[in-house]
Amino acid sequence: MAMLKINGQTHELDVPDGKPLLWVLRDDLGLTGTKFGCGIAQCGACTVLAGGNAMRSCTLPATIASSLEITTIDGLETPVAQAVQAAWVDLDVPQCGFCQSGQVMSAVALLSKNPKPSDQDIDGAMAGNICRCATYQRIRAAIHQAAQQLEA
Ligand code: FES
Ligand code: FES
Repeated sequence: MAMLKINGQTHELDVPDGKPLLWVLRDDLGLTGTKFGCGIAQCGACTVLAGGNAMRSCTLPATIASSLEITTIDGLETPVAQAVQAAWVDLDVPQCGFCQSGQVMSAVALLSKNPKPSDQDIDGAMAGNICRCATYQRIRAAIHQAAQQLEA
């Protein structure tokens, strides 16, 4: 049995040892905004916030996640998250869209800790989020735009 705090709600779930948080989110809780890409912590599609840090839910056992506040793309509502999502829409960042949930989560984690990131900061923080459509330039621009909006 695990008590999971997800998007501000507590869930008591019967979770087998080792079951990744990703599958608890998607299959047990129907939170399908978090995507499965590689399953081996290499692509970032499954990124969630765990204790405010961007983490790969495909390799994070749900029983370990039970000690952390988890936020998924479905539950983003901070001013930083709103600024990031508005910039994503304004600059039309997604192409196929598959990686974008993870990209947004990593961008929110970055801006929550570093409100004015340099290009280098952005590239470092986003390096684990792969985009097969190569939207990296728009992602970088959107993070700068969100930072400017939050500063205004
Ligand atoms: S699905 Fe988790 S990093 Fe790729
Ligand atoms: S938008 Fe297609 S993989 Fe990133």
